[in-house]
Amino acid sequence: MAIKRITRRWLFNSFGVIVVIILVIEIAAAIGIANYYYNSVRQTLLSRADSANIVFTRYAEDKTQDFQTQVRDYVISFPAKDKMEMMVLAEDGKILYTSSGFEPDDKTTLDDFRQALVSPDRSGYYVGQMGEERVMAVTMVLSLPGSNISAVRFLVSLAYVDRQIAWIISGLVVLGCVILLLVLFSSSYFINSIVNPVGEVGETARRIAQGDFRARLTKKNDDEIGELCDIINYMAEELGAAETMKNDFISSVSHELRTPLTAIQGWGETILSDGGEDKETLQKGMKVILSETERLSSMVEELLDFSRMQSGRLKLIMSRMDPVAELSEAVMMYTERAKRDGIHLIYEEGDIYAPIRGDKNKIRQVFVNVIDNAIKYSDPGGTVTVNAEIVQNKLVITVSDTGIGIKEGDLGKVKTKFYKANSTRRGSGIGLAVADEIVTRHNGTLDIQSQYGKGTTVTITLPIMKKQDELAEINDAAEGTS
Ligand SMILES: Nc1ncnc2c1ncn2[C@@H]1O[C@H](COP(=O)(O)OP(=O)(O)OP(=O)(O)O)[C@@H](O)[C@H]1O
Ligand SMILES: [Mg+2]
Repeated sequence: MAIKRITRRWLFNSFGVIVVIILVIEIAAAIGIANYYYNSVRQTLLSRADSANIVFTRYAEDKTQDFQTQVRDYVISFPAKDKMEMMVLAEDGKILYTSSGFEPDDKTTLDDFRQALVSPDRSGYYVGQMGEERVMAVTMVLSLPGSNISAVRFLVSLAYVDRQIAWIISGLVVLGCVILLLVLFSSSYFINSIVNPVGEVGETARRIAQGDFRARLTKKNDDEIGELCDIINYMAEELGAAETMKNDFISSVSHELRTPLTAIQGWGETILSDGGEDKETLQKGMKVILSETERLSSMVEELLDFSRMQSGRLKLIMSRMDPVAELSEAVMMYTERAKRDGIHLIYEEGDIYAPIRGDKNKIRQVFVNVIDNAIKYSDPGGTVTVNAEIVQNKLVITVSDTGIGIKEGDLGKVKTKFYKANSTRRGSGIGLAVADEIVTRHNGTLDIQSQYGKGTTVTITLPIMKKQDELAEINDAAEGTS
């Protein structure tokens, strides 16, 4: 389809214009050449007429010989009579003498004679058909007082000249055709060099669209099409990577969901078989079931947040809040777990007052995600240090660990969705993506510094609310309650 359209457009636009231009040039050249040839024949005939005029005037002045005889002899012995016919006309236009020797036709109407009688330069000109051939005639009116001779006329066949003109025009037509063929040839080469690769690009793009992310284009030239090939290859690569990441994500999320479910199912079965008689087992089982359910629901919540974030529907409920309080709560949530994993969780709750405008639950979610990572990616015996301080009117929270660290090449990508730098630990790869989005929506920043094998530090910066904004918000809240 594309092939046809581009070629058709080219045919109409460029080639059509070239054909028209060549046609116009050829027609103009043909007219010019024909005019030039006819003019030179006419000039030749005119100069013949001039010479005849001079000779006849001389005859008229020569009283020793008979004027009529002299004129007739001149006409009969006209030297160029094999090329043209010379005639001498009477006052009424009748032919008196002719070099052809044929009996003059009385009924001949001589347009050029009539024209010469009225023309200021005393000459007339005629081109037209005479019998089988085209001829040109030039008549010049003479002034020979006292004689019945009024004009001299020269008639020449245009067959030879017309043949010459036809040859030149055919030459021009051939030249025009050669030029058109050359244009056609070079352009079709050019068009093919675009249309064919475009077809290939289209075919590969279709394969990619159908899910074949291994389809690649071979770059042939370093031009725009080559660039397009590169871009499409890059797109396929990225789509392939995204597809792999998505598949990994689905499998890790399934794993994540299955683990608590297995625990819940296991304890449920135990309690059921036991009939709930052993109070201790029942207590322990219910505790596990509850905590695993909580874990499940917070995972589902995170997934929902992620999905809302993807579709731009993640809504934040903003109000004045104390992020340090949320940080303390998040740390509390992980104290038990850190102890279990043999990790020192150090958090010194300083006396900091740093209110911000933000979404309480989401901010806590950010801290939970970051602390969760710090513990998850540390080995037993490691230390996780959580710290909060105010630097230049900003609340700066750091979570450092002495864990496995992140390779330099992965550091830039860990904040992208589904990206996992380490497949040995469980996780779906969306925690940091969600945390980063939330912090950004609070006009803050989330930076990660890491040394592979040594540890990682995540720094979260949040702008502290200005005093007047805080007061205004407190007033609003007071008015709202009163
Ligand atoms: N403190 C850290 N130490 C070492 N690696 C980390 C740390 N935090 C994050 N990473 C790396 O960054 C990746 C992305 O982290 P992220 O929190 O987004 O995903 P996850 O922890 O794998 O899964 P999720 O948090 O969604 O359960 C992790 O898979 C891990 O490889
Ligand atoms: Mg995580």
